[in-house]
Amino acid sequence: MQFPYRNIVILTGAGISAESGIRTFRDQDGLWESHRIEDVATPEGYYRDPVLVQNFYNLRRQQLESGSVFPNKAHEALALLEQQLDGTVTLVTQNIDNLHEMAGSKNIIHMHGELLKAQCSNTGQTVEWSGDISLDDHCHCCQIPAPLRPNVVWFGEMPIGMDRIHQALMEADLFISIGTSGAVYPAAGFVHEAAMHGAHTIELNLEPSEVENEFAEKRYGQASDIVPAYVAELLAIS
Ligand code: NAD
Ligand code: APR
Repeated sequence: MQFPYRNIVILTGAGISAESGIRTFRDQDGLWESHRIEDVATPEGYYRDPVLVQNFYNLRRQQLESGSVFPNKAHEALALLEQQLDGTVTLVTQNIDNLHEMAGSKNIIHMHGELLKAQCSNTGQTVEWSGDISLDDHCHCCQIPAPLRPNVVWFGEMPIGMDRIHQALMEADLFISIGTSGAVYPAAGFVHEAAMHGAHTIELNLEPSEVENEFAEKRYGQASDIVPAYVAELLAIS
């Protein structure tokens, strides 16, 4: 049988990094149980209390830089798929961690930003960043240096890379969603868009997501089990 997939789009969410020790948002003990979205993940929250918001993301960045967080077998399997497949794999992630990069994936779109970058609050220009961001940190891109903020897309802001994402979804013949609750748009709508353009769609998650009924195929379990198993199946027929 000829391998049917040339253009694969993979959407990942917090669930793929859960087994690496990074808390998800909406699961039991998720981040949104102990923090109000309005306070830490909106522009309004940032203007009200920038120190609270900087600290929230500084803690997340400290965890990434502590040397104690590593990619798991699911991240590694996706990197292997990209390396071994004769075709295009576009990895769209809602995660702001760097575990896909650490695992070796290359073609990544961070639609909700990256913790290891800071953003000029005036122009939106980004710079690589390590360590905490404080209110004393300013950009070098403006005549009057503007404060730096975390390079994270907040609720009500435009996600990054949408043109590239729509193009990839239009060309996709396989759409794989991994570790996302399907609670946040536009990411939750990608399955519908990919299916409309003729892609086969599969959900790999711990439990059925909010958009589970949109998928042609579903498998449930820990990402570190089900993702390598599915990738092995794809590579075996490629
Ligand atoms: P919205 O328009 O406020 O936000 C959705 C848009 O913001 C999308 O474009 C999304 O991609 C983007 N976005 C910005 N920051 C994000 C982040 N940190 N994570 C994910 N996506 C982000 O619409 P909504 O999502 O329907 O939310 C409506 C209101 O309800 C918001 O004020 C939100 O704070 C609040 N709220 C939302 C959720 C949720 O899961 N969507 C949960 C609880 C409360
Ligand atoms: N393996 C597979 N799936 C898992 C695992 C695991 N080990 N652990 C949790 N999950 C699943 C959960 O069942 C849940 O459906 O991952 C999903 C995580 O969902 P959310 O916490 O809602 O995370 P996500 O979908 O990435 O959130 C989207 O919301 O607030 C924003 O900016 C935030 O980008 C994020 C967006």
